[in-house]
Amino acid sequence: MTAQYELHGDIAVITLNNPPVNGLGLATRQGIADGLAKANAETAARAIVITGAGKAFSGGADIKEFGSPKAMQEPNLLSVILSIENSSKPVVAAIHSVVMGGGLELALGCHYRIAAPGTSVALPEVKLGLLPGAGGTQRLPRALGVEPALNMIVSGEPIKSEMLAMLPGQKLFDRMATSAEALLEEALAYARSVADARPMPLVRELPCRHPQGDAYFQFARNMVKGMAKNFPAPGKCVDAVQAATKGKFDSGMTTERELFINLMWTPESKALRHIFMAERAASKIPDVPADTPLRAINSVAVIGAGTMGGGIAMNFLNAGIPVVMLEMKQDALDRGVATIRKNYESQVKKGKLKQDKYDQRMGLLSTTLSYDALKDADMVIEAVFEEIGVKEAVFKELDRVMKPGAILASNTSTLNVDTIASFTKRPQDVVGLHFFSPANVMRLLEVVRGAKTAKDVMATVMVIAKKIKKTAVVSGVCDGFIGNRMIEQYGRQGGFLLDEGCTPAQVDKAIEKFGFAMGPFRMGDLAGNDIGWAIRKRRSVERADMKYSRTADLLCEKGRFGQKTGAGWYDYVAGKRDAIPNADVVQMIEDYRKAKGITPRKISDEEIVQRLVYSLVNEAARILEDGIASRASDIDMVYLMGYGFPIYRGGPMNYADQVGLFNVVQAMKRFALNPLDDAKFWEPAPLLARLAAEGKTFN
Ligand code: 3HC
Ligand code: NAI
Repeated sequence: MTAQYELHGDIAVITLNNPPVNGLGLATRQGIADGLAKANAETAARAIVITGAGKAFSGGADIKEFGSPKAMQEPNLLSVILSIENSSKPVVAAIHSVVMGGGLELALGCHYRIAAPGTSVALPEVKLGLLPGAGGTQRLPRALGVEPALNMIVSGEPIKSEMLAMLPGQKLFDRMATSAEALLEEALAYARSVADARPMPLVRELPCRHPQGDAYFQFARNMVKGMAKNFPAPGKCVDAVQAATKGKFDSGMTTERELFINLMWTPESKALRHIFMAERAASKIPDVPADTPLRAINSVAVIGAGTMGGGIAMNFLNAGIPVVMLEMKQDALDRGVATIRKNYESQVKKGKLKQDKYDQRMGLLSTTLSYDALKDADMVIEAVFEEIGVKEAVFKELDRVMKPGAILASNTSTLNVDTIASFTKRPQDVVGLHFFSPANVMRLLEVVRGAKTAKDVMATVMVIAKKIKKTAVVSGVCDGFIGNRMIEQYGRQGGFLLDEGCTPAQVDKAIEKFGFAMGPFRMGDLAGNDIGWAIRKRRSVERADMKYSRTADLLCEKGRFGQKTGAGWYDYVAGKRDAIPNADVVQMIEDYRKAKGITPRKISDEEIVQRLVYSLVNEAARILEDGIASRASDIDMVYLMGYGFPIYRGGPMNYADQVGLFNVVQAMKRFALNPLDDAKFWEPAPLLARLAAEGKTFN
């Protein structure tokens, strides 16, 4: 039963019971409707209380139902709310913990509302590219006032019930309960006190005006246009709330409905809904049960205090977990600590971090030159030079000193985690934790599962990742893991585009217009072109048959490593990040073309975008086939969180699904005919070819 009915003396109580958050799916809506009918028919019941079991009143409409016929099947949410309003007995919403989206709309349809302190109240539909579609845009402004309501609807951010209860003239909450524990008892008492009140109040009957309506809504519209340029929903939220102030309640509802349905079909909303589910799916590992016992992680050691080690340490300090950092020499430790200190100080200066928090975090950091000081740590993360010999020495030491059961993690970006595990006598405790630079900022964490990594190690690091506010995605062991294995193909396409006639700026502009935070050449300059150069040199033996443009190597031979040397694909002025095109680089590319006998051609932005994005998609399909990623949506999360793929396109796999895999494959076949490209690469991965032929999608 997803909604229970119970008589408490003379009050009927309907309890939503659809874990985890009482989403208002079809069965729950039916349960409420049945409960209402029963309570209205039951002579013993004088009034009705609606509440939620577990950790929410309700998190809103069931997102999993969106796009399926169930979402609109009767009783839909609008009909349920209508039957509450039409109830012959007063209905009291007893709200606690979380009341969001359709859950808040349901409560706004009730005659009275009593809320527990500490309840998170929100209309977060905008975060899914939608607007509230069950009267929220019409009732909340009536209950709360136009300005606070519009703010909540456009931002989607939760506000605590006690704060809302303090707004002058608010009609959202009739009562505040003394505590969450006392809520039901107090709701029952309140229901008894209003059981005979007639007429019963309805939010829809409250006035809705703004004294400077037109000007206010114009300001609001201008503001959201600037902030949410790729998303249509915020602007539509303004339209819907304005409609609430313009005419009768019912005509506002019609406007809201039309806008809601139109938004539901936009690619932006589909992308955001996909991301909501993808983010939650990523934390689950198919063969690791949710109840796997966890290892306790109360202290962490970090080996190497360089670029990555410092950032990694900060993540744990921020989460209140003590860190001991080990280096080979004192001056390296001092430099590492000074960088951490500088990062925190700049946050304090900007007012983003309070002084006491800063002191607390630095107080959790200690340093050492001796491995013996690590013996009590529950987990160690190695971030030393990317050389297998160095990793071997470090892991042998860790094997010697770390206590049994400690998790031994490596932040390697290119080396084989199974090889690293083999340096120890406890490969089951070894795992890859691939942070992205800057490690204290970037949300992505690739968790690299070795052949022997224990399930409880996997379960534990997924939980720890959440604790340090990372989006963790599991990857199997392969060269580059998920993200860098794909970016290699993307980078190769960038090179071919130069060979064939583009400038770096043209390629970057095209893909940035598509929505990427940064094109491949600006990204290379930021990360350091020498990193890719070193990797290509290492691989030139292993992958002698792999075709690629030599332009990036020529650039590095000129010492143009990127921002750090003030010159890369572009020039940089000290202290600034603006990329200034450089005539010598363009000449270098032209000379290269000439030497190879290539006649340049004009390449459209569309071709640039397709080649770059579909190269990601084809490699990703191989990654899925190889079992390196367990879901297409995990790959989307990697690209959204770690590589600046545009959020409103939902990741490469979601984008390919939206374009249609048949069309993607057709384009690949065209690219394969280009003699300057890599025909072998463009052979569609078997999985992609099969899905396209069957008219299916990745997700
Ligand atoms: N429908 C279905 N499932 C939902 C859900 C919803 N509205 N909200 C959360 N869930 C599920 C999640 O998918 C997750 O499932 P899983 O355990 O199988 O992975 C589980 O609930 C727990 O979610 P979180 O990990 O996010 O748990 P938290 O405790 O951190 O947060 C929450 C709880 C604050 C409710 C958060 O989940 C949230 O913000 N949910 C989205 C709320 C939302 O957007 N509601 C509006 C829906 S649209 C709507 O109502 C349309 C209406 O206007 C017509
Ligand atoms: P770095 O050169 O900035 O720092 C490495 C640090 O390790 C130096 O401070 C060095 O003194 C120390 N070190 C070297 N050998 C040591 C040893 N035997 N014992 C103790 N300390 C030792 O390097 P960076 O960039 O921090 O990279 C570290 C690791 O992180 C590498 O495996 C790299 O592939 C990986 N990585 C790097 C990313 C980046 O963008 N820089 C991104 C993701 C992973």
